[in-house]
Amino acid sequence: MTDAPAAYSGPKRILSGIQASGSLHLGNYLGALKRFVELQDTAPTFVFVADLHAITVWQDPAVLAAQTREIAAAYIASGLDPKHSTIFPQSAVREHAELAWIFNCVARLGWLDRMTQFKEKSGQHKERASVGLYTYPVLQAADILLYRATHVPVGEDQKQHLELTRDIAQKFNNDFSAPGFFPLPEPMIQGPATRVMSLRDGSAKMSKSDPSDLSRINLLDDADAIASKIRKARTDPEPLPDTLEALKARPEADNLVGIYAALADETKAEVLARYAGQGFGVFKPALAALAVEKLGPVTGEMRRLMADPAEVDRVLVAGAERAREAAAPILAETRAKVGFWSAGAG
Ligand code: AMP
Ligand code: TRP
Repeated sequence: MTDAPAAYSGPKRILSGIQASGSLHLGNYLGALKRFVELQDTAPTFVFVADLHAITVWQDPAVLAAQTREIAAAYIASGLDPKHSTIFPQSAVREHAELAWIFNCVARLGWLDRMTQFKEKSGQHKERASVGLYTYPVLQAADILLYRATHVPVGEDQKQHLELTRDIAQKFNNDFSAPGFFPLPEPMIQGPATRVMSLRDGSAKMSKSDPSDLSRINLLDDADAIASKIRKARTDPEPLPDTLEALKARPEADNLVGIYAALADETKAEVLARYAGQGFGVFKPALAALAVEKLGPVTGEMRRLMADPAEVDRVLVAGAERAREAAAPILAETRAKVGFWSAGAG
């Protein structure tokens, strides 16, 4: 009988990131930001602005730093507490790039060839995509394992990248005879809004890159814009059903009920119990009022912080320092496992 390889036995750590590209929307808020805030008291939490990932597609150098501060402002405005959670720009911790290189030599081409996000983002002309866009998920694995993070809150679209992270951790542990060296991190894809859909098309994800601004609620939209976008959201003419089963068959209605549930910290079933039999003439204004009530304070605080870049910079400087302290020893151990030279060793 062979023993199963030793599992990772270190402490629980939460980590996630959002790219510094374009402005944030309700999908980012419900699928990611709000979740980080709910989880930050359950374990040490690392949340970064993924600027290395952002440049896998062209970013104007004149605005990248401002976008980085904007995401950091959104973290703080949503309720992440910089005293407890480590908030930092990814590129300020150079260990991310170094570990990504090592993982580039662990991951297999066949694994990356299966990544659906690369296929979507590279579109018709794959040969014109940056090499960075292709190895994007390898850098993501480095982001996570550099801190030995065990739990990663993300939206549904990141599931495949988390599976790849687990494959890389496992292969590294096997190749270097280091069972349990890296944890196999758990994706935390939970709640009623892990995939918020476009307000114009119930079959498309709400996304930064949708050309129609009516398709999404931006975190910086004011109350009037929020109300008007919800009023114009595509729906069907039927009243809301009384079962989840019936809701599932109506993607636009399902999406709005999911948004309501996530904003109100309820389940979809609880929302249906209240609104079944009512038409969108009643439900949409209720949803708009709830969205304005919940997002208004976040937007206000975000605007205040964006007007005070020095305050955001203080958080990022302190966060980068703490992140480096956590990352450096893990990278040093990793380098030793790989067999890299260091004076006096080996
Ligand atoms: P990104 O803006 O692509 O860096 O995504 C940042 C985070 O927001 C990730 O955890 C995504 O999974 C999440 N996210 C992005 N779009 C959506 C959406 N439409 N619904 C739910 N979560 C989303
Ligand atoms: N790829 C993620 C996204 O687009 C962002 C990201 C980069 C991330 N590194 C990460 C998320 C590490 C979780 C953990 O949404």
